[in-house]
Amino acid sequence: MSFPNSSSSPRFRVAIVGLGFGAEFIPIYQRHPGAEMYAICQRNEAHLHEVGDRFEIGTRYTSYDDVLADPKVDFVHINSPIPDHAWMSLKALEAGKHVMCTVPMATTIEECDQICEAVARTGKKYMMAETVVYSREFLFIKDLYLKGELGEIQHLAASHPQDMDGWPAYWEKMIPMHYATHVVSPCLGLLDKRAEYVSCFGSGKVRDDIREKSGNRFAVETCHIKVQDSDVVAHIWRFLYDVARQYRESFDVYGTKKSFEWTLVEDEPHVIHTAKKPEPEIPSKIEVPDFAHLLPEPIRMFTKTIQDAEHLSFVQGGGHGGSHPHMVHEFLSALAQNRDPWPNATQSANWTCVGLCAHQSALKGGEIVKLPAFTLK
Ligand SMILES: NC(=O)c1ccc[n+]([C@@H]2O[C@H](COP(=O)([O-])OP(=O)(O)OC[C@H]3O[C@@H](n4cnc5c(N)ncnc54)[C@H](O)[C@@H]3O)[C@@H](O)[C@H]2O)c1
Repeated sequence: MSFPNSSSSPRFRVAIVGLGFGAEFIPIYQRHPGAEMYAICQRNEAHLHEVGDRFEIGTRYTSYDDVLADPKVDFVHINSPIPDHAWMSLKALEAGKHVMCTVPMATTIEECDQICEAVARTGKKYMMAETVVYSREFLFIKDLYLKGELGEIQHLAASHPQDMDGWPAYWEKMIPMHYATHVVSPCLGLLDKRAEYVSCFGSGKVRDDIREKSGNRFAVETCHIKVQDSDVVAHIWRFLYDVARQYRESFDVYGTKKSFEWTLVEDEPHVIHTAKKPEPEIPSKIEVPDFAHLLPEPIRMFTKTIQDAEHLSFVQGGGHGGSHPHMVHEFLSALAQNRDPWPNATQSANWTCVGLCAHQSALKGGEIVKLPAFTLK
């Protein structure tokens, strides 16, 4: 992921859409050598100007259509609420803009298909900005895996319990597995393979008002993923409401030589188990190193800083493992090198559709559901 650092390298003009979580990315783009932090967009004019004044950004829009009509915008970075991701991505691609969009790609398989089709037809780049696969923990585990230190991978497991009471109301309409990319992506991303099919069960029940708003009765959804072209199966589980547990985005990797297990409680050390040692010496608590050295110097500081520490996604999200500058750098590098970003559109669709297929499976009592063919390309 090297980036041409010279002054002659191209600078891509970004418009950030949605300035809650989205505002975190403004100072990163402002310092990245390959970006021009050009425009911001959100519907509430007062907040738009507050953010624009704070970061000294001149080009400000309250209308998304006006962003897309601006020929100076090279790409949009979408951080709007979940129901808006798909239509905003599609409209931007059709308007000739590249798209980086926060998770998930969409909330239906049809929309994922439409986005993949639009990317293939327009030749524009699309990346789902999945924080987990650019977190320091994932980068650390992937590094161990690629160096052969874990041995053969035998099993993967990931969990994302999160109590969404207190979050914006649209979360009450969500289904746990429709926001599953934080657990799907590390499993598939580590092996760099696609999901082939899933089997998922629903467990427990949510309170009546959540069931009525979401159309889903399960409190927990727990899913097995068959990884394509591999003998590995991953297990993921999620809840959004009515289960007593601290937030966690965990990722456990079981190898023949070493395994990585996520801490049970936030801010405590993760554990590495090493095979064939005397039993008490098998586990060792570890400190995960930072991976800022992979980034251009001006944005390295952002693996450890947060602009809005009060935002619930940081209170519960642990700062997303220092992932924000890595995602920005990956997308800008892909634009500069005219290559697909990681994840590209079909990978993003595969990761998103695992959750969509999983919920279909849960409604059918755990029946196997195959991932759509367009996500396997
Ligand atoms: N770890 C992660 O990957 C992670 C963490 C936090 C949030 N997110 C995602 O980021 C998105 C935003 O989250 P949030 O907590 O900031 O939400 P939010 O509701 O606080 O903010 C949404 C923003 O989008 C703007 N917006 C809404 N509709 C718009 C429109 N039609 N045109 C222009 N602007 C519009 C709003 O004005 C607001 O600024 C969500 O999709 C969420 O899933 C991802």
